[in-house]
Amino acid sequence: MSGGSRKRDFLRVADLSGAELETLFERAVRLKAGDDSGRPLVGQTLAMIFLKSSTRTRVSFEVGMYELGGHALFLAAQDTQLARGESLRDTAAVLSRYVDGIVMRAFAHQDLVELAAHATVPVINALTDLFHPCQALADLLTVREEFGPDLRTRRIAWIGDGNNVANSWMDAALRLEFELRLTCPAQYGPDPTLLAQAVKQGNVELFRDPRDAVRGAHVVTTDVWTSMGQEQEAAARARAFQGYRVDEHLMSLADPAAIFLHCLPAHRGEEVTSGVIDGPRSRVYDEAENRLHVQKALILALMAGESGGDP
Ligand code: CP
Ligand code: NVA
Repeated sequence: MSGGSRKRDFLRVADLSGAELETLFERAVRLKAGDDSGRPLVGQTLAMIFLKSSTRTRVSFEVGMYELGGHALFLAAQDTQLARGESLRDTAAVLSRYVDGIVMRAFAHQDLVELAAHATVPVINALTDLFHPCQALADLLTVREEFGPDLRTRRIAWIGDGNNVANSWMDAALRLEFELRLTCPAQYGPDPTLLAQAVKQGNVELFRDPRDAVRGAHVVTTDVWTSMGQEQEAAARARAFQGYRVDEHLMSLADPAAIFLHCLPAHRGEEVTSGVIDGPRSRVYDEAENRLHVQKALILALMAGESGGDP
């Protein structure tokens, strides 16, 4: 994870080593099974700054802190002095005097990097325009539950926008070495620097035709065509993404045991049909539930110093 011995942050999946990810998933499995139900965070507080809307992320962090014995403090950015121009630097320094960890959902990823640089407590990325690493952790836990812990034998197909969630899948592929096939319309591909790095490693490939990407895939996953902050582009995006909808025909080209994932919120009839997201292959509610379990494991790793694996 980012940071020195002073504290550790989680701003992107690649902040964790492969061994640390494994430790985290194993802990999440125990937490989910109820085999690990202590309250080690009594007396600790997590501040949660949100500059964008959220249902799952906010609730899963808040419930997670409660279940671990701690307290979560929700800070809608517009109600803080950030909205009136107070710097991230001062916000980070001051919050660090009150709380034991900070979660932030932001627009520019650089804002999160800046917050983390000036906070003396662990900082967790709750989504930026570039990454959504907590989502990737929950998605991987869901894949692991379905197919077992050796992810290297699995083929994942990402259909649609090369957005923050897609970038986090690439980051995860760099660490866990599963096969990732992305298919995006021209001009809506994932982060080019990250893509080049992932392609060079050899287990990530970009396809133009969704049918080529899903062939034999064990996981088919997508996200909205218009992410938060891109609302003005919605009409152009809706045009560009025609042909990138996950429907029953596309799913039929995947492995017979394939599952469907979506981070939610979803737009039925746009990026996915109701038949797929509400059908027997969908694991979207398990995926949403897994946010809670894997984030509890993450909070413990960062705030209770239980990271495990190779730092
Ligand atoms: N998947 C996800 O992050 O959902 P929210 O925007 O509701 O937090
Ligand atoms: N890509 C979406 C994910 C929402 C959880 C967005 O950034 O809006």
